[in-house]
This record gives sequence, C-alpha cells and structure tokens, in this order.
Amino acid sequence: MNELTAAAVIDWLTALSKVYNEKKDYLTDLDRAIGDADHGANMARGFTVVAEKISPLADKDIGTIFKTVAMTLISTVGGASGPLYGSFFLQAAGVTNGKTGLNAGEAGTMLEAGLKGVVARGKAAVGDKTMIDAMTPAVAAFQAAAGEGLSSAADKARQAARAGADSTTPLVAKKGRASYLGERSAGHLDPGSESTALLFQTLYDIVVK
Ligand SMILES: Nc1ncnc2c1ncn2[C@@H]1O[C@H](COP(=O)(O)OP(=O)(O)OP(=O)(O)O)[C@@H](O)[C@H]1O
Ligand SMILES: [Mg+2]
Repeated sequence: MNELTAAAVIDWLTALSKVYNEKKDYLTDLDRAIGDADHGANMARGFTVVAEKISPLADKDIGTIFKTVAMTLISTVGGASGPLYGSFFLQAAGVTNGKTGLNAGEAGTMLEAGLKGVVARGKAAVGDKTMIDAMTPAVAAFQAAAGEGLSSAADKARQAARAGADSTTPLVAKKGRASYLGERSAGHLDPGSESTALLFQTLYDIVVK
C-alpha cells in the first residue's frame, strides 16, 4: 500500500475495534495492577461504537472520519483515555481535512499532530509511564522512515511503539491514576502504552495487508 486511503483508515479502525475487544481482559488486567481495572472495557466500548459510526463514511474525507472517531471516543469512553485518544484523532483530523488519501509523509504529519494533541491534553512527557512512552518513539520512527514508504514507516513505528510500551514496566508513574501508587507502580506495564502499541501494530497490519 503506497497511500493510506479513507477506506484503509476505516479498515484500520475497524480492525482496532476487533483487537481491543480481543485484548479487553488483558488491558483490564494491566490496569488492575496499577489503576482501576477499566482500560480494556473503556477501549473496547469506545472502539465498538467507533467501528459502527465510521462504517458508512468510506466516501468521506479522512478528516471527517477522524473527527467522527474523536467525538465518539470523547462521548463514549470515560476516564483519562477517552479524552486523550479523542484529542489524538481530533488533531489528526485537523491535518487531514479534505484529504482522501495520505502518502507516507502525510501519514507521518497526521500521526505527529495526533501525538501533539495527546501531549497538549495530558501534559505527560516520555518517562512518565503513560501512552506517550509508546506514542512518541512510534511517531518519530514513522517520520524517520517515511522516505522508505508507508509499509516501512509503519513497520518501524510498530516496533518502536512495542519497545516504548515495554520500557514502561520499570518506571514509576508520574501521571494519571497509577501515579497515586508512587514507587508501587514500578514493575508493571502501563495499560495505555499497551493500547497505543496495539494501535500501531494494527496500522502496520492494515498497511501490509
Ligand atoms: N496525563 C496523561 N497523559 C497521557 N496518558 C495518560 C495520562 N493519564 C493517564 N494516561 C494513560 O491513560 C491510561 C489509563 O486509561 P484508562 O482508560 O484506564 O483511564 P483511567 O486512568 O482509569 O481514568 P480515570 O482515572 O478518570 O477513571 C494510562 O495507562 C496511561 O497510559
Ligand atoms: Mg483505568
């Protein structure tokens, strides 16, 4: 795939809904250790509605699709992650308005805008043990490899997201509910970093399909 089309974007988010439903218990178990055991339920619930809402939008521009995703996540996912992922897709929508396809460079710009949206909303930095620890290196890797094409960029990004998520295990949380645990948050993988790793893995799976 050389271009992430509107149909591919819908495939990505529909596949992600399936993945979050399959991984619901795992994500919730991660959140049980250092949070309130709802991350899997939050992501599964939100993306189930996302998949329903976007299925009729294949003939729309990508900005319209992402805006629908953002509004759906903000209204259906409680907790921290709904507004955070909502901000990701709202800012991604801002740079994809009117576009029906994204080349690798444009997809990198879209992901960077999304990342900036999450940072603006949550004020987390790398090392705070949040989804930012997976998202920041993933977006950087995607952009660094964009010149090699969409598949290569998505491949590097999913690897960086995976490594970023794994890097959260020894960290002490500085943001979100897990930060209330202080030192006791160390030794557990951050649930939001795992859902972000899945987001990039699923993007890769769609791009190389
Ligand atoms: N300020 C933040 N910036 C970025 N990510 C954050 C921030 N706060 C929390 N997160 C991410 O959100 C994940 C938790 O999402 P979840 O769906 O479980 O919401 P929650 O923390 O239970 O929300 P609430 O505390 O409002 O119920 C964390 O694992 C972390 O990755
Ligand atoms: Mg939670």
